[in-house]
Formats: sequence, structure tokens, C-alpha cells
Amino acid sequence: MSVAIFGATSRIARELCLRYAEAGHAVYVAARDVAEAERIASDVRVRTGVHAVAGAFDALAMEGHPAFVAEVEREVGPLDVAVLAFGDMGEGPGDGADFADARRVIDVNYTGAASLAEAVAAGMGERRRGCIVGIASVAGDRGRQSNYVYGSAKGAFALYLQGLRNRLYPLGVHVLTVKLGFVDTRMTYGMKTKIPVASPDAASRAIAAAAERKVDTLYYPRFWRAIMGVIQGIPERAFKRLKL
Ligand SMILES: NC(=O)c1ccc[n+]([C@@H]2O[C@H](COP(=O)([O-])OP(=O)(O)OC[C@H]3O[C@@H](n4cnc5c(N)ncnc54)[C@H](OP(=O)(O)O)[C@@H]3O)[C@@H](O)[C@H]2O)c1
Repeated sequence: MSVAIFGATSRIARELCLRYAEAGHAVYVAARDVAEAERIASDVRVRTGVHAVAGAFDALAMEGHPAFVAEVEREVGPLDVAVLAFGDMGEGPGDGADFADARRVIDVNYTGAASLAEAVAAGMGERRRGCIVGIASVAGDRGRQSNYVYGSAKGAFALYLQGLRNRLYPLGVHVLTVKLGFVDTRMTYGMKTKIPVASPDAASRAIAAAAERKVDTLYYPRFWRAIMGVIQGIPERAFKRLKL
């Protein structure tokens, strides 16, 4: 089996590279920091002995995505699993002060992710097998003043994945939507919360297991499904008054 992890320098993604390699799968490690991607691939090769290759990937370089996927498949073979792990939370909530920042957040988390998913889906659809894993966020379940640009991009990505799953189902290709709550990574560094934060290792195990079991939507940590159920149930006239 061959696996590609896009946005592989994320801690969750690094764990996934190792996890799939330990299961004996060839791994393509794609990240915009190609030197770091090469270090991850080399570590994977040393620890597992599997074929692991690194390459430069930028979610914003959308015109190049189909050619990049072709290059990935030349290196590790037709993809069985593609994990879209990249994400960008941006600098601010999106208060209109810097739309350039907001636009990058939208493009990385949604437009770039959809562009790459289309490129991967084309081959998997033709071969009538494969699994696309998209890492979205619980932030996409309801717009909140503290991070609505990031939330809207992740929410759009989750909706996109839902439609893609529906389209690819008859072709035998599975699409897993991962809605992460708090995981201890660079993205949440310094964040203060009373809600328990998951480890990247535990998150990667849950994601790989859900892909294997063909789960449609994984909330991780799982209690976030209930939290978001409550948050989604608050009437808008009350919700708009909250400071969330
Ligand atoms: N941690 C959480 O609590 C949490 C919660 C909900 C969702 N998520 C999602 O989980 C995924 C992994 O994030 P993380 O928590 O591990 O944070 P992270 O360490 O900040 O990882 C984000 C990854 O995205 C990559 N990236 C950003 N812009 C990119 C671009 N233009 N092209 C290619 N790669 C790009 C980063 O690459 P560089 O190393 O080059 O910066 C990094 O590998 C993301 O999709 C994130 O949105 C995380």
C-alpha cells in the first residue's frame, strides 16, 4: 500500500508517517519545508526500513497540484491513502484589519485543500480504490468571533469533503473527515483551556484507525462531538451575545 501525507511537518502528520510506515506502507512525506520533510523521511526509513520519499508541497501552489500528485505516484506508486494534514490558523480572528492574512487562511485550509483533494480523487476514482483523509476542525461547526475566518475555511472544507464522499462512494473510494478538537501542537502552543488537550500520538492513532474502519466523520477527542452538539444547539439570538 502507498500513502502520502501532505503537510507532513505537523506533529500529528509526523506521527501518521511513522504509523503507516510501521504497518509496512511506502510513504511520501510532502511539506513546504523540504529539508524538514527529508529529515522525517530519513527517520522513517531508518526506523522502519520502508520506502519513504520527501518532496516540496505548497497548498497555495494550486496549478501544480495535479503534476505534484503524478510525481508522488511515480515515487511511491498509486496512492491508497492520502492525508491532507496542512492547516493555517492565521494571525487574527478576521476583524477586517488584514484581509491578506484572512485570504491566505481561506486558501490554505479550503481552496488549496479542495484543489489537492480533486487531484488525488481523479486517480483514485479511476482505479476505484483509495481513501482521502481531510483534517478539518471543530472550529468549522459554528462561526465564533475569536476565529471565524479559520472556522469558515475548515467548515467549507468539511462540507466539500461531505460532497466528495458522496461522489466517490459508488466508485469505491472512501473519504474521512476528521474534526479535531484541541491537540498539543504548534497551533495550540501557549493556549490556555480547561478542556483536555490530546497528544499528537493519540490523535494519529485515532485517525489511522478511523481511515481503516471507513468512518465518515471522526471527532477527536471524541467528546468534542457532544460539545459541538451543545454549541450548535444554542439559538443564534443568544449565541451572538456570547464571547466565544
Ligand atoms: N492542534 C489542534 O488543536 C487542531 C485543532 C483543529 C484542527 N487542527 C488541524 O490539524 C492539522 C494539523 O495541524 P497541527 O495542529 O499539527 O498544527 P501545525 O504544527 O501548525 O501544522 C500545520 C501544518 O500545515 C502546514 N502548512 C501551513 N501552510 C501550508 C502551505 N501553504 N502549504 C503546505 N503546508 C502548509 C505547516 O507547514 P510548516 O511546517 O511549513 O509551517 C504544518 O505542517 C491542521 O489542518 C490544523 O488546522 C489542529
